[in-house]
Amino acid sequence: MVKAVAAVFVRKVWSGIQSRMLSAQADRVMENGEWEERWQEGRIGFHQPQVHKMLETNIDKVLAGRAHISFFFPLCGKAVDMKWLADMGHSVVGVELAEKAIQQFFEENNMTYSEEPVPSIPGAKVYRNPERNISLYQCDIYKFSSSVQGQFGAIWDRGSLVAINPRDREKYAALIISLMAKDCRYLLDTLLYNPELYKGPPFFVPDEQVHSLFGSSCDIERLLSVDALTDRQRSWGLDYFTENVHLITPKSN
Ligand SMILES: C[S@@+](CC[C@H](N)C(=O)[O-])C[C@H]1O[C@@H](n2cnc3c(N)ncnc32)[C@H](O)[C@@H]1O
Repeated sequence: MVKAVAAVFVRKVWSGIQSRMLSAQADRVMENGEWEERWQEGRIGFHQPQVHKMLETNIDKVLAGRAHISFFFPLCGKAVDMKWLADMGHSVVGVELAEKAIQQFFEENNMTYSEEPVPSIPGAKVYRNPERNISLYQCDIYKFSSSVQGQFGAIWDRGSLVAINPRDREKYAALIISLMAKDCRYLLDTLLYNPELYKGPPFFVPDEQVHSLFGSSCDIERLLSVDALTDRQRSWGLDYFTENVHLITPKSN
């Protein structure tokens, strides 16, 4: 009895702390133009020149023995992970606002590309390298849907859920769920730090919120939790910075 009361108390205190932490960034808005400016000015400290460790470490869990998977990269930037997966024979679809990011991806990886409008998304363009089966859509993620390229067998979400504006998380989660094929394996990278010390992006996304966003239709397994504090985050004023990786799969009916 005492134990049960103590557990309820701890849960209540914890949930109070979480809501205070979430409210610290709830109203932060990064306009689309600000992202494009970052690309124009080369302020892309989030870009990593090598394949992301969390993807590399967990790739077997994402593939689960499957070959020729269709991978989706929301907010893809110029992640070299896309080439890494395409070289293994998977197909890749990415969505990115900044034309500069897409052009740099193909140029820096020595790939030619075609460029065409997307009839179903006014103003959008798709850049393709057919040899490698990579298609990158230049548009706002919220204009993308399963009617453009169907659903996906895998999703790699790094710098995506943590980069969209906090007020758009439900809309983003609904879109991601609609893009998941029945056998989809969605690898999600989230970050924990004190949001009262840094305004983001990247934004703080606690595990509880991952559960509230995806838990009703998906199973969620936290695969890893690592201390990822470096001088970059120390320069933001942070004293802890944890990276969590989750494997999210649609619940079977
Ligand atoms: C933090 S970066 C991460 C890029 C990439 N996932 C990586 O790991 O390197 C976020 C990217 O999302 C793009 N972006 C931001 N908001 C977007 C939106 N609403 N729709 C599409 N792309 C967006 C930005 O231009 C930026 O390249």
